[in-house]
Amino acid sequence: MLFIVIHQVYELWFKQLLHELDAAAAALDRDDLLRAGKNFRRIHTIQRLIEQQVDILETMAPQEFNQFRDHLNPASGFQSVQFRELEFACGLHRTDVLQWVELDDEQRARLERRRTAPSLYDRLKEVLRRRGFAVDSSEALVQTYRRIYSDEAAHYDLYLLLEDLIEFDERFLLWRGRHVRMVERMIGQRRGTGGSSGAQYLESTLAHRFFPELWAVRTYLGEGTYA
Ligand code: HEM
Repeated sequence: MLFIVIHQVYELWFKQLLHELDAAAAALDRDDLLRAGKNFRRIHTIQRLIEQQVDILETMAPQEFNQFRDHLNPASGFQSVQFRELEFACGLHRTDVLQWVELDDEQRARLERRRTAPSLYDRLKEVLRRRGFAVDSSEALVQTYRRIYSDEAAHYDLYLLLEDLIEFDERFLLWRGRHVRMVERMIGQRRGTGGSSGAQYLESTLAHRFFPELWAVRTYLGEGTYA
C-alpha cells in the first residue's frame, strides 16, 4: 500500500511541477520575469517536499521490500513519463533511456511534443538575447552570466531569475541524490527492475545539469565588476 501511494503522490506533484514550469516558460516568453519568480517559489517548495518524502519510504525495511519486489518486474521508475517530461521540458533530452520502457502512442506523442518544443533553457537564452546579451555558445553564456552577476543591481530581474533557476537545478539534483541513496539502502548493488544496473546507473545521473553554465560561472563570481 505504501509503495503504491507514494508513487501516486509523486506523480501528482510531477504533474503540478510541469504545470508550474509551463506557466514560468510562458511568462519568460512575455518577458514577465517577476511572474516566473512566483512560479519558481511554488516549484522550489514542492521540490523540498518531494525530497523529504523519501523519508516515508525509508520506514520500509529492505527485507519487507524484497518480499514483493519480484512482483514489480518489469515495472520501474523508467515508466514515469512525467519525470522524463520534466527533464525534456528543461532541455535535458535523454532519449537513450527510453529504450528501457514500453510507451503507448499517447505517451510517445507527449514526450515528442516536449522534446521538440523550446525548452526552459532555450527560452532563457531568448530572454537574454532580447536584452542584448550574447548567448550563442556555452562560453558566451558564461560571460553573459558573469556580467549579470557582477552588476546585479543593473539587471536585478535577470539576476533573480538566474538564482531561481540554479535553485531549481540544485533541488532536482538533491532529489536524485536522495533517491539513489535510498535505492542503495534498499537493494544495494542489485540490478533495477527496469533493466539498468541500478544504483550505479542512478549515480551517473547526478552529473546532469539543466543549466551547466550557471554552475560554471560560480568559479568566477566575486572577482569584481565584469563589463
Ligand atoms: C524502494 C523504492 C525504490 C527503489 C528500490 C527504486 C529503484 C530504482 C532503480 C533501480 C532505478 C533505475 C531504473 C531501473 O533499472 O529500474 C530507478 C529509477 C527511477 N525511480 Fe526509483 N526506486 C524506488 C522508489 C522510487 C520512488 C518513490 C519514485 C518516485 C517517483 C521513483 C522514481 C524513479 C524515477 C523517476 C526513476 C528514473 C530516474 C532516471 O532515469 O534518472 N523511485 N528507481
